Amino acid sequence: MVTQSVTGIESGAVAPSRLAARGVTVGYGTRTVIDELDAAIPPGVITTIIGPNGCGKSTLLRTLSRLLKPTKGAVVLDGEDIGRLRTRDVAKKLGLLPQAPVAPEGLTVGDLVARGRHPHQSWLRQWSSDDAAVVERALAMTGVSDLADRPVDTLSGGQRQRVWISMTLAQGTDLLLLDEPTTYLDLAHAIDVLDLVNDLHESGCTVVMVLHDLNLATRYSDNLIVMRDGSILAQGHPRDVVTADLLHEAFGLRAKVIDDPVGDRPLIVPIGRTHVQLP
Ligand SMILES: Nc1ncnc2c1ncn2[C@@H]1O[C@H](COP(=O)(O)OP(=O)(O)OP(=O)(O)O)[C@@H](O)[C@H]1O
Ligand SMILES: [Mg+2]
Repeated sequence: MVTQSVTGIESGAVAPSRLAARGVTVGYGTRTVIDELDAAIPPGVITTIIGPNGCGKSTLLRTLSRLLKPTKGAVVLDGEDIGRLRTRDVAKKLGLLPQAPVAPEGLTVGDLVARGRHPHQSWLRQWSSDDAAVVERALAMTGVSDLADRPVDTLSGGQRQRVWISMTLAQGTDLLLLDEPTTYLDLAHAIDVLDLVNDLHESGCTVVMVLHDLNLATRYSDNLIVMRDGSILAQGHPRDVVTADLLHEAFGLRAKVIDDPVGDRPLIVPIGRTHVQLP
């Protein structure tokens, strides 16, 4: 018997999900944030979106997950226009960790994570021991099992963040969109979460995440999407993409790019904003 992992992927299976933005224009009200953008998410790879505050990273992620509807173009999931799919069908294929999720007051950690199983339930298929096992495993994977009975709104920022990641994992999808999964986490917990993301990737998951820590982004992804002002400046393997010129163009940041002594990736050493006079 093949054991079902928490991500719903059986070992050795090839991740079937494919996701792409095709000529997508999207914004809020009359304000366009992203204009005619094309982006393809390679299967089975960790893609990390980086870029300055307000450049449209979350807007892109929310559009890719169907939370935002483009005014032009389309998002294609497994060859189908995501806008034509039912919410439940999208949720069975794609899990989204939003940037600043808020839990209903008083809801316990266990109940919140159990909500990740909702897309799998119907009046025909009620809550089962399999669902309970997936939830238990998802809690354990992010180290929050001990918090299961606590109301989410009584937790620290970092504990809460891990609980939300746990809920996203309980959804059991092989495509994960994580908007700043390491926010509020101390470095050791951030590395824990990114190692977990890497384990999921190794079990066949496709991951798209947004990170602000550029060195963690280069360390943990094989594909970087660098954004500025709603556009993609560069996309590719960190080794091919990360240069001092690009960092300056994207962030207005002066930095040296050296070899990471741990691993074979570039390491970014910030110097300062362009306007700062250095001795
Ligand atoms: N709900 C909203 N209503 C109106 N404008 C919004 C909304 N959400 C975001 N924006 C605007 O859209 C632009 C892109 O925002 P977005 O959240 O995508 O940026 P981001 O790259 O994720 O930034 P950050 O790094 O700060 O999370 C910003 O100018 C922002 O003010
Ligand atoms: Mg954001």
